[in-house]
Amino acid sequence: MEHLIINGGNKLKGEVSISGAKNAALPIVTASLMGVGKSVLYGIPNLRDINNLIKILRSLGAEVDLDYDQNKLMINTDAVSRLEVPYSLARKMRASYYALGALLARYGEATTTLPGGCEIGNRPIDLHLKGFRALGAEVKIEYGVVEIKANKLTGDKIYLDYPSVGATMNIIMAATTAEGKTIIENAAREPEIIDLANYLNVMGAKIKGAGTDIIRITGVEELTGSEYTIIPDRIESGTYMMAAAITGSELYIDNVLVEHIKPLIAKLKEMGVKIEEDVSGVKVISNGQLNSVDVKTLPYPGFPTDMQSQFMALLTQAEGNSVVVETVFENRFGHADELRRMGADIRIDGRTAMIKKANLTGAKVKATDLRAGAALILAALAAEGKTKITDIYHIERGYENVTEKLKGIGVNIKRVSTSE
Ligand code: UD1
Repeated sequence: MEHLIINGGNKLKGEVSISGAKNAALPIVTASLMGVGKSVLYGIPNLRDINNLIKILRSLGAEVDLDYDQNKLMINTDAVSRLEVPYSLARKMRASYYALGALLARYGEATTTLPGGCEIGNRPIDLHLKGFRALGAEVKIEYGVVEIKANKLTGDKIYLDYPSVGATMNIIMAATTAEGKTIIENAAREPEIIDLANYLNVMGAKIKGAGTDIIRITGVEELTGSEYTIIPDRIESGTYMMAAAITGSELYIDNVLVEHIKPLIAKLKEMGVKIEEDVSGVKVISNGQLNSVDVKTLPYPGFPTDMQSQFMALLTQAEGNSVVVETVFENRFGHADELRRMGADIRIDGRTAMIKKANLTGAKVKATDLRAGAALILAALAAEGKTKITDIYHIERGYENVTEKLKGIGVNIKRVSTSE
């Protein structure tokens, strides 16, 4: 078990470069199973979740070569023979459910365990299954195992009761080879969905409208392995922007697509942070004087739930009273308790958090999930003294080289194993 030790109070300086998006890489790497032959993917971040997914692909029989020096992944699917995700790998990662859509599309069947992942709410997969059923698949759930089979997939009109990211992606994948046309209404509009659709289209799929709430898919016979580059991670970009804001620093963040982080940019500006955009990234300039703001998480293009924890950490340093409302997940305030241990003034009432400015001091805290862990890093940067963050495997599921990147911009940070 490793932990992080951060000595707070340093100003950040210089430049940090953003990695490929975890939440685009996971479905795209899985979708490579759908292509005959070889795919070459660039911009693959070196993360626990990706490494776990690679194990899943290998367990199915795919040949996978990894070159993390170049963030490059080569996948050959010719020898895929097993259509069941092993329990031990599925339970580690919620996104293992993308194997359902991908394998169903190509082989007509798939089996996996009901997924694991961050403990931030109930997180059912009923909408995914509703979509598979609409396309003609038979879905069986027994003892937590989901088994899906279809002799033939046929296009249909599917209305999602909620614009779920995972369900939208899984249904897109399954529908690419369904006979005729599929229409997904009230689809999620996240940039990662556009990225997946773009990759599938390069492989030969016919998907239109990704990024809007109506996606139209015309089924094709077969997809072919292809080359593709993953988009930069908008959540990682936002986290480093908030790191600059909370420490009153000037920081350049490279490899950022600003159109993907508009709600954060708007909120940071409202708080008094200066943001300069250029073609490749953003410069964040903060004098440490932050105004309070209110924020509500929503599906894209609203403020992302995946930045809520980090933003709450930032608001502990803003003058006045701020309010955060979490509408996407019902149980995503796990970080508030830990932030309080560092001196934060946060009151929770249901899905609403009220935050007042307070001085933070270093403490021993625990990363309760991926983004909660990132929030603790931000708080530690602003805190007086030393913070020890345990359970950092959560953080490493989603932030590539986080210790090295933070060191590179002036953070006093050490990654140590618990025995030390
Ligand atoms: C993805 C992201 C996650 C992000 C979330 C919302 C990945 C691997 N993960 O998760 O980081 O926080 O989008 O932006 O990309 N729901 C149902 N039934 C379903 C599916 C979802 O009720 O079948 C509900 C969920 O419980 C939740 C809401 O819909 O309340 C949003 O979930 P969803 O958009 O599906 O998130 P994920 O795809 O799991």
